[in-house]
Amino acid sequence: MSLLTQIEQLQSTVQEKIDAAADVAELEAVRVELLGRKGSLTTLLRELGTLDPAQRAACGKAANELRQRTEDVLAQRQEQLQAAALDQRLAQGRLDITLPGRAAPLGVQHLINRIRDQVIDIFIGIGYQVAEGPEAELDFYNFTALNHDVQHPARSASDTFYLFDPSGEEHTGFEPSEVVLRTHTSPVQVRTMLQQKPPIYVLAPGKVYRRDAADPTHLPQFTQMEGLVVDRDITFADLRGTMDYFCKEMFGKDRKTRFRPHYFPFTEPSAEVDVSCGICDGSGCRFCGNTGWIEILGCGMVDPEVFRHSQVDSDSYTGFAFGMGIDRIAALRYDIPDIRILVEGDMRFLRQF
Ligand code: PHE
Repeated sequence: MSLLTQIEQLQSTVQEKIDAAADVAELEAVRVELLGRKGSLTTLLRELGTLDPAQRAACGKAANELRQRTEDVLAQRQEQLQAAALDQRLAQGRLDITLPGRAAPLGVQHLINRIRDQVIDIFIGIGYQVAEGPEAELDFYNFTALNHDVQHPARSASDTFYLFDPSGEEHTGFEPSEVVLRTHTSPVQVRTMLQQKPPIYVLAPGKVYRRDAADPTHLPQFTQMEGLVVDRDITFADLRGTMDYFCKEMFGKDRKTRFRPHYFPFTEPSAEVDVSCGICDGSGCRFCGNTGWIEILGCGMVDPEVFRHSQVDSDSYTGFAFGMGIDRIAALRYDIPDIRILVEGDMRFLRQF
């Protein structure tokens, strides 16, 4: 068979072969078959050298044209196949936006935060504002400025969590520069008075820490709400009236309240406020320690010594402060016999509120 005939025959099959390649890999196999080192077209081109010059010109032209066309058709087909592959990949990754969505499990506000917000609402209603302070607190604000004697038992490492001494030294005890996990929200009283001038009507909610073993009425981390009022002519009667108002709003008019004399280093005089136990209705049970009463807050008139540390002129101003345990109030409001359930994360319990 003459070379020219072979070229013509090959020419008639090139388009067909290339069109038959179903993907890029198959197309590459076709390219090798035609134009590779041992490819049929390559072999023909190599044979051109064996022809006599008269034939060589005509055959050479036909062969080169065929090679050019083959390369063009290959490139075209390659583009086609790549586009098709891309379309397919896009189609596979497409989202079906008509499918119904999966509902995300919905949480609930924790009972502690709910009660906190209720207490805040009651006091916001009578003109208070919210103040904040750090949970890792300097000894100065937590103890010294609140008139705790250097030997006060609350400062002992068995009652209070000590973090570190900023000087890098180990805990030596009773140093004003030491850092503790605040044992109450009262340090916010001092921070507030140092930041703003009277009249002051603030509430400071937050977590506090004590080295207590967890039991039905205690947790080593719990939540308090501090209140502070500093103004002209504030008296103990204002404190009583405010606490009575709060208790009625919070627990309802059927609960009884009482003031008991007490001692706090930072208030003078001081009192504790009890609410009648809602679990036994005052007859005595495990929750109220058989007394019929539950202590819900401590309070008193701001001690002049605290005013001195807080740079408030105690000749011009007087004030009262109070602090309550939110966990205890939650237990009272919802008759929860063991407050440990508040921190156990059991959704069956937490979802009820
Ligand atoms: N800080 C006190 C406590 O944690 C409560 C308190 C606050 C008492 C303000 C008096 C005034 O027990």
